[in-house]
Amino acid sequence: MAEHQNPFLEQEIDLRKYARVLYERRWIVISCTVIAVTLSLIYSFMMKPVYEASTKLLIEREAPKVVNIEEVASSDFSAREYYQTQYKILKSRAIAERVDKELGKYSPWSEWTGRSPRKGEPLTDTERLDSLLKRVAVKPVPNTQLVEITVSDINPDLAARISDLWAEKYIAYILDTRFEATRYASGWLQEKIKEAKDSLEKAEDRLQEYRRKHRIVETGSQISNPDVFNELLKRRASIEIEISEKSEHFRERHPEMIGLRSELGSISRKIESEKEKEIIASDVAIQYNILRRDVDTSRELYHSLLKRISETEVTGELKTTNIRVVDRASAPMDPSKPKKKQNLIIALLIGLFAGGGMAFLMENLDQSLKTPEDVKNHLKLASLAAIALPKTEEDKNAKAELITAERPRSTTSEAYRSLRTSVMFTAVEHGRKTLLITSSGPQEGKTTTAINLAIVMAQAGEKVLLMDADLRQPRIEKVFNFGKEHGITEILAGTEKFDSVVHKTDVDNLYVVACGTIPPNPSELLGSVKMAELLKDTASKFDRIIIDAPPALAVTDPVILSGMVDGTIIVIRANETNRHAVLKAKEMIEEVKSSRIIGAVLSMVETERTGGHYYYYRYYGKKYGHYGADKNS
Ligand SMILES: Nc1ncnc2c1ncn2[C@@H]1O[C@H](COP(=O)(O)OP(=O)(O)OP(=O)(O)O)[C@@H](O)[C@H]1O
Ligand SMILES: [Mg+2]
Repeated sequence: MAEHQNPFLEQEIDLRKYARVLYERRWIVISCTVIAVTLSLIYSFMMKPVYEASTKLLIEREAPKVVNIEEVASSDFSAREYYQTQYKILKSRAIAERVDKELGKYSPWSEWTGRSPRKGEPLTDTERLDSLLKRVAVKPVPNTQLVEITVSDINPDLAARISDLWAEKYIAYILDTRFEATRYASGWLQEKIKEAKDSLEKAEDRLQEYRRKHRIVETGSQISNPDVFNELLKRRASIEIEISEKSEHFRERHPEMIGLRSELGSISRKIESEKEKEIIASDVAIQYNILRRDVDTSRELYHSLLKRISETEVTGELKTTNIRVVDRASAPMDPSKPKKKQNLIIALLIGLFAGGGMAFLMENLDQSLKTPEDVKNHLKLASLAAIALPKTEEDKNAKAELITAERPRSTTSEAYRSLRTSVMFTAVEHGRKTLLITSSGPQEGKTTTAINLAIVMAQAGEKVLLMDADLRQPRIEKVFNFGKEHGITEILAGTEKFDSVVHKTDVDNLYVVACGTIPPNPSELLGSVKMAELLKDTASKFDRIIIDAPPALAVTDPVILSGMVDGTIIVIRANETNRHAVLKAKEMIEEVKSSRIIGAVLSMVETERTGGHYYYYRYYGKKYGHYGADKNS
């Protein structure tokens, strides 16, 4: 068995095992695939075709600045946040509402029923918006500032229309919000302007009032008159000089003096009053200037506010935007769904995998035995041979029980010869002459195996006796066409001698003892001392005795017999017999002290179904076949 140490061979066997499982259960795989493909086809053909239309939008990060008024509508996001926000706005109810209004009550559709109106109440606004939103996808084009709005509908034109409408309404929404912001700003300005205007008017009024009160003409020359004042001072000085000159000539009481003095007094009074006038005039000037400055600043504020509002209004009106439609949607020619080819491929793969999985699962759940390896692994029994069912027409036409005689060149016959080889191989070691053929259940191929083994052994030159110990349903006599004759029952009952019931057959060296009359108590007969004596007697006359027995789980006969023979062979019907049944039979036989199980034979192996079996068969067949052939020749 040097080949078995070859790791490549091990691997090959593993792969063969998987391949065998798949091949053996190919109908499951095929059925699963067919079902999956059929379902996919039904799905593809029953489904209403869905069309997809896309509009491409360019969203530049910042609004182009026409007028420098950042504070009016500024957006100081980071790029990522900005775009995420835009995507959210694109998928918002606000946009859906606008589109819905424009569409005039969009009615949703289903892949199966199309656009069927709902029974009962009409759709609420929320439901309509939801259905609309569900059909819209917003996908950014990677590494660009482009966004694709994709709308699916069962009507291609409508899909394109909604897609474009969506883009339009989004742009309108953005403009509206910006305009709102501008309007808010200008409203605030307007208020400020009104305030400024009021205060300007008040300041102007105050100034005017003041002017009127102080009779101020804009030139301001009336406020003080330095010439008059100087004239008065000069006059006073000259009068004072005149008084001092005249006082030398006149007394104080002189009328001239009195006149001069009164003139001096009046001039002095005039000077005093002029002085007072001067002070008052400068006060008025200061107050006037204050009032005038008030008016000036109010006017300045008013004008600057006026200028600002005109700026803002211009910007608001411009309606510039950073969003543009790059590609408008066009009505698609082909539906996007169902993707028939893709669905088919997916279904095919699913079917294959599910089928494969099922195959392996069933293989695991399957409690039958298929390969000699199963026999070794699960039963811990030596696998003596795997007997394949006949393959060619001629082999099939031959009687299964006599195939080794009728068609010795067939592969099935070769399998029996390999069984013979295996048996001889162990028999040489242990000197096993009497062999019992049994199985766990009925119809497993015991009789067929017993007859053919007997034939090939006879063909190998041994003097073989075949005994039908199935005293309940004897079949050997029918196979050899003996008719109703005496057999084991009579020998055991003591009414006949062995020599008178033994038949010589057409096969050289092969002798047969049939069942005879079916007895009422087979177990007792087979367990009797007479049976042991019979076996002893025949052992001296033949090289090999092969006993066909009933199934072990059905009756106790084979268990009893297993204690009387040199070796027991368990026949297992491949792919059918439950391994636990075989294990039970094995246990029962092993419980008998003097029993010895040589091994198991897989019968009715379907090489057609199990490519792998053929490998095993070939393997054993070749190796031991040659060994057997050598021995024969
Ligand atoms: N290798 C084979 N090729 C074709 N047919 C076979 C083979 N082995 C068995 N059969 C068929 O299977 C059936 C059962 O076989 P057989 O009578 O040998 O089984 P059994 O275990 O002796 O049954 P029972 O429990 O009734 O005695 C028979 O009809 C037989 O022809
Ligand atoms: Mg039988």
